[in-house]
Amino acid sequence: MKGVVLAGGTGSRLHPLTKITNKHLLPIYDKPMIYYPIETLVDAGIRDILVVTGGKNAGDFLRLLANGKAFGLSHLDYTYQEGEGGIADALALAEHFADGKKLCVMLGDNIVEGSIRQAVEEFRRQEHGAKILLREVHDAERFGVAEIVGNRIVGIEEKPKHPKSNYAVTGIYMYDHTVFDKVRTLVPSARGELEITDVNNAYIREETMTFSFLEGWWTDAGTFDSLLRAANLVEKTRRRSCEPAGRD
Ligand code: G1P
Repeated sequence: MKGVVLAGGTGSRLHPLTKITNKHLLPIYDKPMIYYPIETLVDAGIRDILVVTGGKNAGDFLRLLANGKAFGLSHLDYTYQEGEGGIADALALAEHFADGKKLCVMLGDNIVEGSIRQAVEEFRRQEHGAKILLREVHDAERFGVAEIVGNRIVGIEEKPKHPKSNYAVTGIYMYDHTVFDKVRTLVPSARGELEITDVNNAYIREETMTFSFLEGWWTDAGTFDSLLRAANLVEKTRRRSCEPAGRD
């Protein structure tokens, strides 16, 4: 399976922090934001990774990440998203890279505590379709929200005013090669973007979408509050892992 990290966009919710740099280059505690999703993919055994970026600071990604040595990789791929067409528009740029293989796509501002290895393994064994990772939250209206009936996912609503559940769709998506055909059928949403939620709903209609729940904490980092929260969670986890065993 190949990996894609989506790191474009204008980061408008973080102005003025993002006025002269890309959101995904901002610090989360002791590392630039984009390090975290790359580490998560590498930990899941994914070695072929494409970084999709955009905007005025794309060159900085190359200087920062180079060929991925800091992650134990010998190579990284890059591509450039023109304009602000949304997550699904950015994903469309990965078609050539994917070359018919399955993909694990991660939003560049999603930070997780645990490993996604098991879910990736399950998707390796899944014949076709897609798989998403959900996480229970108390502010579901900020996210894509999954409606679950029995053990089936029956639909996802993007940032609903009245969420039908507390299950947020995290920014970790696994797709088969048909994802690009699905992206081609999309029309821009009210915010003028091609929505990843519409891609996921296409798989749900096809009844080929599976899901599992993410272990440990999860956060995005695209607003002032979530950026701070992400740094605090990383620091706390790091501190805990440094404490000698047996201490309270
Ligand atoms: C995006 C997706 C949303 C998902 C979220 C996870 O939201 O559109 O469905 O729950 O990422 O971080 P946005 O980045 O627009 O807030």
